[in-house]
Amino acid sequence: MKERESLKLIWYFLGDYKLFFVGLLLLGIVISFISMLNLALLYPILSISTNQTYQPHNLIFTVINLIEENFSAFFSIQDPLVTACLLFICTAILSFILTVLFMLVSLRITTDITIRNKERLFLKYTQSDYQLFIENKQGDLIYRISRAPQFISDVFINLTKLLVDILLSVSTLFLLISISVYGTIVLIVAGGGYYLLTRYLSMKVSFLSGTGRYLSNEQENVTLNEYINGVKQIKAAESSNHWIRQFDYSVRDYWKFWKEDTFWLQIPSLLLYLLIFVVIGLVIIIIKLYYPENFIAYLPVLGTFSLAVLTLLPRLANFGNYQMGIMGALPNLDLVRSIQLDTSYSRIENGEIQLTTKRPEIRFNAVVFGYKKEEKILKGITLEIESGKTTAIVGQSGSGKSTLIDLLLRLYDVDSGTIEIDKENIIRYDLKSLRRKIGFVSQDTFIFNASIEENITFGDSYPTDEINEAAELANAKEFIDKMPLGFGTLVGDRGMRLSGGERQRIAIARAIIRKPEILILDEATSSLDTVSEKAVQDAISNVAKKCTTIIVAHRLSTIINAERIYVLKDGKISESGSHEELLGNTGDYWKMYNINPGLKNES
Ligand SMILES: Nc1ncnc2c1ncn2[C@@H]1O[C@H](COP(=O)(O)OP(=O)(O)OP(=O)(O)O)[C@@H](O)[C@H]1O
Ligand SMILES: [Mg+2]
Repeated sequence: MKERESLKLIWYFLGDYKLFFVGLLLLGIVISFISMLNLALLYPILSISTNQTYQPHNLIFTVINLIEENFSAFFSIQDPLVTACLLFICTAILSFILTVLFMLVSLRITTDITIRNKERLFLKYTQSDYQLFIENKQGDLIYRISRAPQFISDVFINLTKLLVDILLSVSTLFLLISISVYGTIVLIVAGGGYYLLTRYLSMKVSFLSGTGRYLSNEQENVTLNEYINGVKQIKAAESSNHWIRQFDYSVRDYWKFWKEDTFWLQIPSLLLYLLIFVVIGLVIIIIKLYYPENFIAYLPVLGTFSLAVLTLLPRLANFGNYQMGIMGALPNLDLVRSIQLDTSYSRIENGEIQLTTKRPEIRFNAVVFGYKKEEKILKGITLEIESGKTTAIVGQSGSGKSTLIDLLLRLYDVDSGTIEIDKENIIRYDLKSLRRKIGFVSQDTFIFNASIEENITFGDSYPTDEINEAAELANAKEFIDKMPLGFGTLVGDRGMRLSGGERQRIAIARAIIRKPEILILDEATSSLDTVSEKAVQDAISNVAKKCTTIIVAHRLSTIINAERIYVLKDGKISESGSHEELLGNTGDYWKMYNINPGLKNES
């Protein structure tokens, strides 16, 4: 990643905190100035104690003289050595306090930015189209929210440390120049080489390994997620090996990058310590060569210079580390930003009309839809779902029944044609008001790891008697009462502790409790035995009277009482009518009815 792009990325994440950051910068400048004074005060201390009179003439030492004079006059201190030492201590304390303040502010900014971005990401997920979750791997989606934003804090912590380091280094360098130009030149040459090395490492090694690490981390998440979600089938099929291989591969990959990165991260600081001693040795030689007869006079220079070098060089070492830390985290920031700016999953637009009517009627007019452009699943569906009546949709597996329902829920939008509710195109309705009016029991019941009660109320709150009533209507009350903690019983991840039929009944109770105006049941009773189904069927008929009901089912017993049945075939409606009418037609419905004697018996 180029430096310009990195800066742009950091600027993007600074967001509303740009002013804070400028404040931090100013504070950093003050700290670096005070630290420089602190170091420079060693000079008068050393020269007074070695009885030297020579003093460099430049701005820094003029300022120090001025401060010293005022300080000794103010506190009436006679001894110049005591004055210098007291000032040395005072500047050290001041710089300590300001540095703590700096740390507090920078931590505050860092955590705020990280928290905000994490929250924004989840919000973005919740506001994204359903398609986002269909088209991406769960593990990836989880990594992008749980792990990737964490790196924002890495970047900002390293960035603020880098900032202080740069400022302190610059001020120390000023001091060094004011003490010895030649010494500084040696230092700059050595430091420059060092800088180029760390820069190369941070650009090459850290960024590449940062990218590698996030990819393998993401892969690890995906594998774990798949394994946990599919554990039953995977175990039953004894196919764990595939996941073991994938997991091992991503783990090894990650740690390979980690090893590389960590190794190269250590090298610069090791080199640096070598450099410190070489530089100090060289400076002593230079002074000895230039001023062989008066070496002692240069002791204060040498002492101050060495201290400055000793404080400067570790900073330069960190400088590289911080830079590498930032570069290693940037691929994740890039990922976070691209998710935030991605608009490809916000195509479902909200409308402004509130859906308030009771038992609305629904019409599909020549609806065409396909998940892929070239392959249409629905090829011109026209049908009418009358107000307050029960309409059934039947058809072979894969014929597009669930797709039709998804369109009504606006999980997807039609490619052409319209869907109308009470003669108004559904895209004009406020999404929330539309979906809140629909009680939907989907084909794959979703149960989350919480109590049965929470699974029925599903994020809302209802009085106990309504919960009881809904459970009773869904024919779920009986098995819930048998559970050890009744409604408070925990059901395990994805309801693993419940049977398929129990899960379906909870899902039905969940739909009923919201008192929907439109009730949609997509194979809602498929996992129930004939006896339970009869009971649920009665419950559904009770609720159905108060709603416009759509039933998708294979079993004829479920649809036989529907006022109207639509048969879906090859993307079109091939037949419609009541059960008796359709049997009289001897068409597709008649065939379905006759091919499957099981259906016949049940009905
Ligand atoms: N998210 C998706 N992306 C791509 N294709 C999909 C997606 N969901 C469903 N399909 C395809 O669309 C077609 C219709 O699927 P749909 O789920 O609507 O069938 P269905 O009539 O409900 O079948 P079943 O009776 O088995 O539930 C199928 O061929 C299916 O493979
Ligand atoms: Mg289906």
